This record gives sequence, C-alpha cells and structure tokens, in this order.
Amino acid sequence: MCQVALGELLNGKRSGIYRDRLPGFNDPPGNTCLRGDSGFGHALSKYLDELGFTVFVGVLNEKGPGAEELRRTCSKRVSVLQMDITNPQQIKDAHSKVVEKVQNRGLWAVVNNAGIIGLPADGELIPMTNYKQCMAVNFFGAVEVTKAFLPLLRKSKGRLVNISSMAGGVPMEKLAAYSSSKAALTMFSAVMRQELSKWGVKVSVIQPGGFKTSIAGTSEMWDKLEQDILDNLTPEVLEDYGQDYILEQRDYLKFISRCNNIDMSPVLLDIRHAVSAKSPFAFYSPGAMAYPMLCFVSFSPTGIFDYFSKKLHHFRGSMPKALTKQA
Ligand SMILES: NC(=O)c1ccc[n+]([C@@H]2O[C@H](COP(=O)([O-])OP(=O)(O)OC[C@H]3O[C@@H](n4cnc5c(N)ncnc54)[C@H](OP(=O)(O)O)[C@@H]3O)[C@@H](O)[C@H]2O)c1
Repeated sequence: MCQVALGELLNGKRSGIYRDRLPGFNDPPGNTCLRGDSGFGHALSKYLDELGFTVFVGVLNEKGPGAEELRRTCSKRVSVLQMDITNPQQIKDAHSKVVEKVQNRGLWAVVNNAGIIGLPADGELIPMTNYKQCMAVNFFGAVEVTKAFLPLLRKSKGRLVNISSMAGGVPMEKLAAYSSSKAALTMFSAVMRQELSKWGVKVSVIQPGGFKTSIAGTSEMWDKLEQDILDNLTPEVLEDYGQDYILEQRDYLKFISRCNNIDMSPVLLDIRHAVSAKSPFAFYSPGAMAYPMLCFVSFSPTGIFDYFSKKLHHFRGSMPKALTKQA
C-alpha cells in the first residue's frame, strides 16, 4: 500500500494537485505524532516510517494487535504510545514521552486521526451516550490533543492535520451523531487555521469519503449498540418505529461498507501533502465522491440537494411502523 501511494505521487498522476511540493519533498522534515492502531492511522504510520519520518503513534490499546504489529514491522523511528484521547492523563503522559524523545529536535506535525462512528440510525433513535461518545472521541479528544501539542508545533512552525470526514460537511441520513462531531472538528480546524497562521503553523483538514477500514465495527459491536438503542427508547418511540425497523439499521452500515473504497492511498497521499508540502491546502477531500458531494451541498439549493441525495442513497430499508400503517 505505501509503495503504491509513493509510486502514484512520483509518477506525477497527481502533479496538478501537488505542484507546490517542497524542494526536498522526499526528505523527512521532522518528527510526526499521529494516532491510530488500525485503518488510516495504522497505514499512515507505516507509510511515514518508510518515508523516513520519526513517528509517534498514540494508540487506544498499546497491547492490542495493531500496536504489536507496528512494533514488529516498523523501524526504530516509530514509537507506539498508549493514548486514549478521552483520557486527559494519558494525553499528558504521551506528551511527556514525546517531549523527552524529541528534546530540542522539535515536533513537526500532529495528525488527529482517531475516530468512531457508532451504529448509524435515525437521529431520534441514537442514544445520548452515543452522541456524547462521538463528541468525546471525534471532537473533544482531538481538541485536547491539539492543545497539549500546540506549544511544540508553534516552536517548529509545523503542521496540524485533522482527519474529519466528508460527512462533516454533507448531511447524510443516519449519521447525526458522527457527522455532528465531524462538523465540529472541521470548524475547529478552520478557526485554528486562522488563529495559528500568526505563529507560522499551517492547519489542514482531511474530509475523506468512504474507505474500507475497521471503522464500521464488528457484529458484536453492532449487537451492543443495537441493544443500547432498544434499552434507551421510550415506549412511544419504540411503538412508532417498531422493533423490526430498529433491527434493520445495521443493514445500512453493511450497505455503506460495501460501497467503500479499499485503496487508502488517496488519503495517505493527501495527509503526506498536508504534512510535507510547502503550501499545504486547508481542505483535502480524498475519495471518489467526497469533493463533488461537498461542492454539491455548498452550491446547490437545499431542495435540489435533498432530492438528489435521496436518489444517490440507494439504501432501501423499510419505513418506521407508524408510517407503514398510515400508507
Ligand atoms: N473509513 C472511512 O470511510 C472514513 C471516512 C471519513 C473519515 N474517516 C475518519 O478517519 C479516521 C480514521 O478512521 P478509520 O476509517 O481508519 O477507522 P478505524 O480503522 O476504526 O481507525 C480509527 C482509530 O481510532 C482509534 N480510536 C478510537 N477511539 C479512540 C480513543 N478514544 N483514543 C485513541 N484512539 C482511538 C481506533 O483504535 P482501535 O482500533 O483500538 O479501536 C482506531 O485505531 C477517523 O477519524 C474517521 O472518522 C474515516
């Protein structure tokens, strides 16, 4: 995967986008701290390692298989650190370890990658715990890590790269909890971009479309989330939607997973550009539909967007029980 990504870039397929590469684009500009023990974060750690960066990877579970694999397969330049981003003490500890390791060489970039999606369902059905969890990881976690590491980035005049989502800019049914937290992260990044320019720190936000990673979760996770939904509904809402409709929600996750891209290289290339290019972009939208959808929602009248978005949304689930009775 990493070599493919590098090859694609050097072959110039994306040269129109990456014309402003640093003269020494292939040289590691410094240390990078990112997070993730699977998916984009995992692949990016390996990719940046191959490019010669010193990488600190914060992981949710330092003893998990993803973390073990990074230790086993990466060079000595990669350090794996325990960092649950919802745990302020773990962020402090990871920060201290990074400071100790980089000493006066400085930290060049922070990539806020960790994220969760939960079980997509109608916003009325999603339990409050799920909304709060999405905000805790996708927004507050990223903000807290950013605040902890910014003094280092200000010193290096480095880069902050936040992995948001196309869903943070494009309303998509059943993603109220996830999308709201990503919209908050996108706006946070945009404000930070303006504020940090006086310090020479450049901020980019990545808004990927759909890629096949572990984010969709496992059927055990879906069982638990489904139970959470059922346990938290009032009798009235349960009656209106009906249990069958609720149990069908997981099909939506299977449906969007099937449409996702298996090649993560557009995401890795964009993050690499955000970290290394002399003039990184403020926004990147890797993935086939991400950029068109973001433009569509910004420039078309709402009614037209909603109409076509429903058409594009091929998922044909049943209707809530109360609406079926009416029909
Ligand atoms: N895949 C997509 O289609 C897509 C599209 C748009 C945006 N994104 C965003 O891209 C980022 C990476 O997602 P992915 O697709 O690569 O999914 P993933 O494979 O599930 O990766 C998410 C990573 O975040 C970690 N994580 C979750 N909660 C955490 C916490 N409290 N503290 C520290 N780490 C935590 C997970 O650790 P564990 O593995 O231990 O759970 C996992 O390594 C996310 O922010 C996601 O929202 C993904």
